Amino acid sequence: MSDVTQNHISLITNKSSVVGEVAESMPEIETDRLLLRMFKTDDLDGLSQIYADADVMRYLSGHALSKEETAGWLNYFLAGWENYGFGWWAVVLKESAELIGHCGLQFIHVTPEVEVTYGLARPYWRKGLASEAARACLRYGFAELKLDRIYALADPGNIGSHHVMERVGMRYEKTEYYKDDLYEGELIYYAILRDAYQHDGSPYSLRPVAGDDTRTSFSRAFDDRKREWKNAKAAAE
Ligand SMILES: CC(C)(COP(=O)(O)OP(=O)(O)OC[C@H]1O[C@@H](n2cnc3c(N)ncnc32)[C@H](O)[C@@H]1OP(=O)(O)O)[C@@H](O)C(=O)NCCC(=O)NCCS
Repeated sequence: MSDVTQNHISLITNKSSVVGEVAESMPEIETDRLLLRMFKTDDLDGLSQIYADADVMRYLSGHALSKEETAGWLNYFLAGWENYGFGWWAVVLKESAELIGHCGLQFIHVTPEVEVTYGLARPYWRKGLASEAARACLRYGFAELKLDRIYALADPGNIGSHHVMERVGMRYEKTEYYKDDLYEGELIYYAILRDAYQHDGSPYSLRPVAGDDTRTSFSRAFDDRKREWKNAKAAAE
């Protein structure tokens, strides 16, 4: 994703106590080379190393993150699953079991729209891995969350991210001025509609959650979000 992420992170308090329960109720996805799994508090060191690279964070936060800031992001990832029943996964390279980045789905700021997001450690760029992770997120979003449309947002200068979006079948939709407390500027929106989406048959193995708690949770999250958004728009008119 883009710089918009920062906005949410500031809202998160320390919720490490939820890790165990969230981890148990979260789906994992295996692709050809990757495992998308729940983040754990143990990931802090590995994630800090990745986010300490200013090149990785250039379009995510605009600067390299300290370990403390990374802990805030980690809490945000965990809280997303707790609050909405979907969110960001840890991206792990299967052959080495190494944590190499993140990917996932999240609401775009306060809207009921959902975007796909991804970011990898620099040694793993240009190997098709972000595309592999993004494809899995899209498949999950359409098959499990039953989304009608998934966006991807990027800074106009983040050419690598634009290419990932195109490679996974997303199309340019608009360039829109965006402003919140932390970010102001234009963002490029790519999107793919449910009707246009077709998975390409690449390896994808979903380990679903036991029971339907997560499904109930994200259905409710979407309904709540749509209602809040409608009310906010009505109030602004
Ligand atoms: C952007 C990023 C996710 C791309 O990941 P990646 O694993 O290198 O992407 P892939 O290997 O799947 O490449 C997909 C396509 O993009 C192209 N590409 C990747 N990085 C590129 C770059 N910097 N410039 C131009 N093209 C690039 C690849 O060549 C490939 O093209 P193809 O479809 O013609 O073969 C990665 O550079 C990254 O993690 N950056 C930091 C975090 C970030 O900016 N995330 C996105 C926020 S919106």
